[in-house]
Amino acid sequence: MATTAVPEPTAVPEPTDGRPDGRATRGGERWRATRYIARDGLRVARTGPGHHDTAAAAAATADGVRPTAGQVGKPVSLPPPSGETHPEGDSRPTPHTREETLMQTVTTVTLNNGVEMPILGFGVYQIPPEQTEQAVGDALAAGYRALDTAAAYGNEEAVGRAIRSSGVAREELFVTTKLWISDAGEDRARRAFDTSLRKLGLDHLDLYLIHQPYGDVYGSWRAMERLHAEGLARAIGVSNFHADRLVDLIDHNEVVPAVNQIETHPFHQRTDDQAIMRERGVQIESWGPFAEGRNNLFTHPVLGGIAAAHGKSVAQVVLRWLIQREVVVIPKSVRAERMAENIDVFDFRLTDDQMAAVAALDTGESLFFDHRDPAMVSRLGNVTLDA
Ligand SMILES: NC(=O)c1ccc[n+]([C@@H]2O[C@H](COP(=O)([O-])OP(=O)(O)OC[C@H]3O[C@@H](n4cnc5c(N)ncnc54)[C@H](OP(=O)(O)O)[C@@H]3O)[C@@H](O)[C@H]2O)c1
Repeated sequence: MATTAVPEPTAVPEPTDGRPDGRATRGGERWRATRYIARDGLRVARTGPGHHDTAAAAAATADGVRPTAGQVGKPVSLPPPSGETHPEGDSRPTPHTREETLMQTVTTVTLNNGVEMPILGFGVYQIPPEQTEQAVGDALAAGYRALDTAAAYGNEEAVGRAIRSSGVAREELFVTTKLWISDAGEDRARRAFDTSLRKLGLDHLDLYLIHQPYGDVYGSWRAMERLHAEGLARAIGVSNFHADRLVDLIDHNEVVPAVNQIETHPFHQRTDDQAIMRERGVQIESWGPFAEGRNNLFTHPVLGGIAAAHGKSVAQVVLRWLIQREVVVIPKSVRAERMAENIDVFDFRLTDDQMAAVAALDTGESLFFDHRDPAMVSRLGNVTLDA
């Protein structure tokens, strides 16, 4: 009965310079940082790496070569290219340098235990293990610092290899993995955590999630509370928990989950779930922000119209819409140009009318499956992982 990579729906930082959060800014980041704090009310986190490192690295990234260890974080100033326009899309002279335009500034959310989590990261579900090292390497080179994997994805080792060869410092990263159902329970969860950590080649996780709300969830949570207390998991949380299960878990345990990762996209918006999570101090994280392209999301006329108005893509509008709702997003792509596109969502803002137009697309239903469907509960509960 051993099966791998089945379980998701489709198969079925420097000295501070006075920033409000006390973190350092680098080179030209300050201009953008101020702007985003004002617009989002969210904190500014990390910046993209390869594009603003040494001159050598800047030249290398232009050729698609990743920066290596020691190149990250050393600013280089380049002249603005001729004809560069203001980020709002008009022809005013740009107020920032080329260095700044090449950087990505990802804001963070503060979890209920004070841990900062990037609001945008990179998901690796359905990336075959043999393609994962390249994909994660490309994502790190594009500026992503949060990575979302799972024991059930079968690619934790490849994620670990990509992290090691990227040269990005561990403290710059926010790494999430997840506990599968067949490892539920206090002892098993502990062993599964150790296995994931070994496969990833890490000595701690930033976020460890219960992947599905099935099996001995309470035993798993006790193990995870201990992992958290021991500092091995900076934050712990859940995934695919409907509000009733989430509240039950909260009300009968010590640690409140920091995150609930659930299907969230324009056709299934989860506003009621988000309201309850907000009341309870749980951060919502979207999986499937593009609904994996279902419902013709990428060619949807409403989303397309908003995208055209901003000179952005539908993918960027969807991510921006989620981020303005303070939903953490972890889009997946195996294509470097889409990775760059998907992280480039911090230089525009949807208007209230545009937010409302996207809100009107909600069907209130999953495009994948219902986590309360008995047949699916049983099916997923029978999926075990290879060692
Ligand atoms: N907790 C859970 O149960 C659960 C379930 C599902 C997913 N997740 C997590 O959430 C992450 C994201 O969800 P997901 O991977 O299911 O789906 P998704 O991010 O909604 O969609 C990924 C699909 O969109 C395409 N795509 C990406 N960027 C694009 C762009 N700019 N333009 C056009 N197409 C684009 C990708 O194709 P290419 O790769 O060819 O670019 C891929 O087919 C996962 O990777 C995983 O980490 C968790």
